Amino acid sequence: MNDDNRPMNAPDGTPLPHGANEPSAAVGSADSHVPAHRQAEPIADPGLPEHTWRPTDIDPKAEKRAERQVAAMFVAAMISALLFVVAYFTLDVGDNWDTVAGLGASTVALGVTLGVSLLLIGIGIIHLARKLMADVEIIEMRHPAASPAEDREATVQALNDGLDEAGIGRRPLVRNTMLGAVGVLGLPAVVLLRDLAPGDELDIDKLAHTIWEPGMRLVRDVVGTPILASEVEMGDLINAAPEAMFPTEENGYPELHGAEEQSEKAKGAIIIVRMNPDDIIPAKGREKWTVDGIICYSKICTHVGCPISLYERTTHHVLCPCHQSTFDLADHAKVVFGPAARPLPQLPLAVDDEGYLVAQSDFTEPIGASYWEREKQ
Ligand code: FES
Repeated sequence: MNDDNRPMNAPDGTPLPHGANEPSAAVGSADSHVPAHRQAEPIADPGLPEHTWRPTDIDPKAEKRAERQVAAMFVAAMISALLFVVAYFTLDVGDNWDTVAGLGASTVALGVTLGVSLLLIGIGIIHLARKLMADVEIIEMRHPAASPAEDREATVQALNDGLDEAGIGRRPLVRNTMLGAVGVLGLPAVVLLRDLAPGDELDIDKLAHTIWEPGMRLVRDVVGTPILASEVEMGDLINAAPEAMFPTEENGYPELHGAEEQSEKAKGAIIIVRMNPDDIIPAKGREKWTVDGIICYSKICTHVGCPISLYERTTHHVLCPCHQSTFDLADHAKVVFGPAARPLPQLPLAVDDEGYLVAQSDFTEPIGASYWEREKQ
């Protein structure tokens, strides 16, 4: 035991791991590391609490056990990465699309094996840091971040010398063509953005429309049951979807699969709220888009496309959890706070003969983030 009450050896006499016994500027009483001028301050620096040694610092068996656990995680991560390679070559993309919730076997296998491998590496590293890495507390005093003036002058001098030696300043043709080559190198990155468009063709029109069509019923998300207008309570917010996402023999909508299903589901997501009809300030031309105070908007935030649903019924505000864009649903979902640049698109509502809520049409503007919307204006 030394002056700081830190053990020099484990109970069985084994020396403690590297660094565990080294004196540290941080460990000790408040007086030992607090400068004299700070000790005179009205509120004394309390210093660090007494250090607690981990079992792996003082018990070689615990240390060995932790070592084996970390190694086992890294080995399992290797196996999972190898399974990724096997899955890549044995499972065809596009086959077995119904393996898990409409996702292909290949997608699921690749995602799971790579995810497990990364997770195990992460857990192994955390375990290594918490159980086996040297456990010492260190205080490092703050130093000025800038380099000394002479170092900065030497760096500028070296840069200028390099430019002189390369002769770039004397050869404008070489300089300009070099800058041009580096600049044009950015073009491939821009061109690759084209691949973000759905399908093989760059079809902006596909992005501008959803699966909604006149007369399509609004159904509850997940369960797919149609919504009677009379069932929607004042102040309710219902997460809903197009009926076409729940095809049956009765409604006759075709089944969608894989990426197409996921894409239409994401684009067609809506929220329905009911409020006092007198509170609603309809936008011009939208006076008949609501049913007895029931109003419907896209659930996809117009900032960068997060799903919104944090609703404050007294103010009729709905908040996007990603960057706090806030929309006033009573005032045609105009943006009252945050980075979103335009209101949530509104879905025109009606009721059918049986009293169920239906769409009057598709959205009349693109849903989601607004970059392609600008083309229209
Ligand atoms: S995605 Fe909604 S505020 Fe950014």
